[in-house]
Amino acid sequence: MSLEDLVKDGIKNIPAYIPGDTAESVEKKYGIVPEDILKLASNENQFGPSPKAIEAMAKEVGRVHIYPDPFCIEIRKKIGVMNGFDDSGDNVVIAVGASGILSLLGEVFIKKGDEVIFCEPTFGAYAGAVIRNDGTPVVLPLTEDLKFDLKAMYNAITDKTKMICICNPNNPTGTVVDSEELKEFIHKVPKDIIIVVDEAYIELSSNPDVKSMVSEISDDTNVVVARTFSKLYGLAGVRLGYAMCNKEMHAILQKCTSVFTGSRVALAGAMAALDDEEYIKKTKAAMLEGRKYLTDEFTKMGFYVYPSETNFLYVNTGYNAAEFAEECKKYGLIIRGNFDYSRITVGRMDQNEKMVGIIKKIIESGELKKI
Ligand SMILES: Cc1ncc(COP(=O)(O)O)c(C=O)c1O
Repeated sequence: MSLEDLVKDGIKNIPAYIPGDTAESVEKKYGIVPEDILKLASNENQFGPSPKAIEAMAKEVGRVHIYPDPFCIEIRKKIGVMNGFDDSGDNVVIAVGASGILSLLGEVFIKKGDEVIFCEPTFGAYAGAVIRNDGTPVVLPLTEDLKFDLKAMYNAITDKTKMICICNPNNPTGTVVDSEELKEFIHKVPKDIIIVVDEAYIELSSNPDVKSMVSEISDDTNVVVARTFSKLYGLAGVRLGYAMCNKEMHAILQKCTSVFTGSRVALAGAMAALDDEEYIKKTKAAMLEGRKYLTDEFTKMGFYVYPSETNFLYVNTGYNAAEFAEECKKYGLIIRGNFDYSRITVGRMDQNEKMVGIIKKIIESGELKKI
């Protein structure tokens, strides 16, 4: 008997994670020096976190021999109050990234035979959490305008449905569903189905009509809203995310989350980042300016840019997305090419301008043929 035989079926079925290209891999392949490589592929916040967060994290480094608060209570209280809950912290669960929340939900709720409905293309962690726990992903296409198809998802509900995942705004398309339709959907779905609304990017939306589903969390719904410090707050490297939910759900998730989830450094950084509203306002405005600039430039190039409420754009360049991404690498630009269209992260303005220059060169060179 091999060790592999001892592994649970769901774990055997996990597809290997294939990370995007890194500066190192592009350097190796095309001989470009790392300083000249521009990576706008992973939807990281290129402005970085608040200087106050950096300062708070640096201070905490001197105390890393001491365990952090096992229950992350201070930040749970703060996030709860910021989102209209009471100050008990008992509507907030902390995890290692929003990814950690998705894993936790899978571990707690998904059993063999349970169905989980979502649309694709979307964030890969939903499928991962389902497969790992022997559940069955029920995968539907997005609508024609690349939004989560609420009607089709509702029609796909069976007596085996355990969970529905909605990525809003969606990765990789940047699109959102109508907030009123989503609210209606949430209240129509039977309460014994858990509705996960992944709002990793919602804080980057510039549209006042795009509403968080935190407002729909109540004793009457099993809505879990997942959020992260990786995007708006620029703390992807410290790995902190959270879920908001009703108290009954909280008690279950909190019991199952590991103690000491948030490191001292992560918690200190996140607390300071939440406090620095001025910095967040400034960097969000700069990101929105970059998003508009790139949308305009790409449109002038004849590309179609899907409306985005995120820090990335989903762009139909007319080229094969994988070939286009490969061509970009030759010029030191890393974007995502593993979807139907190109997924391009909005960077700082100097990075955006450099990227536009590279893409113009690619078009002018005529090396790549449109499909
Ligand atoms: C839609 C979506 N949800 C969740 C995450 C995970 O975020 P975290 O870095 O908090 O694990 C990502 C990361 O890119 C994402 O795109």
